[in-house]
Amino acid sequence: MKLEDFALERFFARHEFAVKHLLCASDCESMTTGELLAYEPGAAELLVDQRLGYTETLGHPALRTAIAGLYERVKPDQTLVFSGAQEPIFAFMNVALEPGDGVIVQVPCYQSLHEVARAVGATVTPWPARESEQWQPDPDELKRLCRDNTRCIVINSPHNPTGAVISKDRFDAIVALARARGLWLFSDEVYRGLEHDPAARHPAACDVYERAISLGTTAKTYGLAGLRIGWIGTRDAAVLNRLAAFKDYLTICNSAPGELLATVALKHHAELAARSRALVLENLARFDAFARPHGISYVKPTGGSTLFAGRAQGERWCEELLHMRGVCFAPGRLFGGDPDHFRVGLGRKSFAAGLEAIRA
Ligand SMILES: Cc1ncc(COP(=O)(O)O)c(C=O)c1O
Repeated sequence: MKLEDFALERFFARHEFAVKHLLCASDCESMTTGELLAYEPGAAELLVDQRLGYTETLGHPALRTAIAGLYERVKPDQTLVFSGAQEPIFAFMNVALEPGDGVIVQVPCYQSLHEVARAVGATVTPWPARESEQWQPDPDELKRLCRDNTRCIVINSPHNPTGAVISKDRFDAIVALARARGLWLFSDEVYRGLEHDPAARHPAACDVYERAISLGTTAKTYGLAGLRIGWIGTRDAAVLNRLAAFKDYLTICNSAPGELLATVALKHHAELAARSRALVLENLARFDAFARPHGISYVKPTGGSTLFAGRAQGERWCEELLHMRGVCFAPGRLFGGDPDHFRVGLGRKSFAAGLEAIRA
């Protein structure tokens, strides 16, 4: 299996910890271990007493229970814990797809959502979400893209980088199509809980469709990327068992302190999500005031922690900002998007200072 370089992650490897103003991060503001433990009385003592042996391959039962608490119908034994959300993307594409299978992927997108499928030998069909349609993917177009060999649809909502939340009627239409054709629905929901208006949230795919796999992580909505804890929820026992067996060749099991801290976080998921959402909305208002005078246009995001902005000569502008001011936006080409677009990350406290550096 030969994977292309992950362009966004290679870009971050160069710039994430080197630039002065990182204005493109997709994870929300993090916190210290002590700040997280303060959410749960007695948790600090549990962490000190945490044994550092191997952990249960499927994930600690308390963590799986906390994950199931995020869903309506999924039970703890219908969850599987991984190291971040990246690992289950890799695992799912490997266990579910055969060479020659067709996969339809919403684009632009986070690269692993199509690249792993391609490297497995599947035929990837891009399903473009267009700026002129508020970045909403069109279910009628999806229907037209389906072929006899199509096995899987890949969606991401709230979406990275556009911040689009798929509308409820479109989401229902996607699920109906997947069900009618018996397709997998791989639903990347790593920004779930960050809908700007919680009333706009569509159901988790795994709650409404028996062949759906919902993907989650502590990294984005909960601001805890360093825990490296992600998961899937699915009511398909066969795919869950195959994923568990595949994980034996990857991380085997998760970090014990990471699992304990993730359990604390997910018990307090609503508070942590509210903290991140407040910051995203504050930064969105700041960016709104900043954009027009700088010739920038964008579709207002409705969820997630990022937006996808555009500007004349946007690619050159971003390069100049990077080299002259140490301000880093993520170029659109890293998501398979228009090169004069760029991703703006709204989840960090340092956002205002970054905009000030550009104004200066
Ligand atoms: C859409 C999407 N899926 C998956 C991931 C991977 O998340 P994690 O850091 O938990 O591995 C990311 C990270 O940026 C993402 O944006």
